[in-house]
Amino acid sequence: MNLENATKPAGELMERARRVLPGGSFGNMPAEVVLREGRGGRVVDESGREYVDFLLGSGPMFIGHAHPEVTAAVEAQLPFGTTYFATNRHGIALAEAVCEAVPCAEQVRFVCSGTEADLYAMRAARAFRRRDKILKFEGGYHGMSDYALMSLAPAKPGNFPRPVPDSGGIPRSVEDEMLIAAFNDIGMVDGLIKEHRDELAGVIVEPFQRLIPPQPGFLQGLRRVTSEHGIPLIFDEVVTGFRFAYGGAQEYYGIEPDLCTLGKIIGGGYALAAIAGRAEIMKHFDKLAVADEDFLFQVGTLSGNPVAAVAGLATLEVLKRPGTYEKVFATGRTLMTSLQDLLSRAGIAAQVIGEPPLFDVVFTGDPIRNYRDTLKGDKAMAARFNQLLRQKGIMKGESKYYVSLAHTQADIEWTISAWTDAIAELKG
Ligand SMILES: Cc1ncc(COP(=O)(O)O)c(C=O)c1O
Repeated sequence: MNLENATKPAGELMERARRVLPGGSFGNMPAEVVLREGRGGRVVDESGREYVDFLLGSGPMFIGHAHPEVTAAVEAQLPFGTTYFATNRHGIALAEAVCEAVPCAEQVRFVCSGTEADLYAMRAARAFRRRDKILKFEGGYHGMSDYALMSLAPAKPGNFPRPVPDSGGIPRSVEDEMLIAAFNDIGMVDGLIKEHRDELAGVIVEPFQRLIPPQPGFLQGLRRVTSEHGIPLIFDEVVTGFRFAYGGAQEYYGIEPDLCTLGKIIGGGYALAAIAGRAEIMKHFDKLAVADEDFLFQVGTLSGNPVAAVAGLATLEVLKRPGTYEKVFATGRTLMTSLQDLLSRAGIAAQVIGEPPLFDVVFTGDPIRNYRDTLKGDKAMAARFNQLLRQKGIMKGESKYYVSLAHTQADIEWTISAWTDAIAELKG
């Protein structure tokens, strides 16, 4: 959709946005996407067009938009105030729920975004180890901090383990504090950890990196080598937490890290994220538990606010019910298989990668094990496919289909029909 063929309200809004927002958007999605409402597994834009929604607010809306139980919980809390800064019973209950669900979680500290959670998890590892360097993986996303924006998406990857900054405005000195390794290459990680063990504070990894599943033995190897050297292993579970299983990717893949970060689903669509992990490391957030120089100073205005906490708790209640994950996985499997079949039958070199709750297509026939392999994908083809799909009523991010518990059989059929037509046009 462009400005010319947008209906009037959307066109007007885009004009207003262009005046007051850099690039005419919030920076997350293209400026022409202006959404008005979300219900279940669908969203409606300001022109009144309805879409099957695989964007899901970039992941939080796992049980669907405006879920009645989440809405009711939030409405019940609103008359009692929206934030106190102080500890409250709903945040305490959510922390208990996290400790019950997530294997590594003995204690929890709430923040408001995945970016913050990852920043503090890395800082906690530094405080615990009294060392500075963090090892991360090329292509791994850990939010927007200076440390995280190292070799997230380098157009020209550098030489391992030297990082390539992803953004303007990052001090050069930060590059010296990060080491970069290739995902799924345990030999490389092993060598780097041995070489840098006396400088390393921690290793941070997305156990499922963007769309790339860990190869058998990779997470086990990472756990083994970090344990051998007493280096905290941090799983960034902002995406995978409560999505791949109730206990997240650590339950799904069967590997327990020392710390993890959570976001998206645990806030039920409100601003809430968390650092969780072993009490021995988490105690650095407690002034009375560690020496002054080891204390990790951390406060946040909206941390653990009761509205987000009740929304998160209501979401977890839904997720705990029998059959929830089976349904999401069945929907995802049907979608993944159907898309792969359509592409194969059309003779397009492409593969659907991911896990059933989160997948996408990469336009290459070559195997994908790490970030550099993803660069072999035909990006122009992917962008064209996404654009055609948007025109046919499919809303998604640039490189992800998030599957929701709310997606129905009708949504699946709508999607397969849109894929069929878009693939025909891609070929034509
Ligand atoms: C793996 C991962 N970590 C961290 C973040 C950052 O979370 P937020 O956008 O809440 O800052 C994201 C966001 O998509 C993410 O996917």
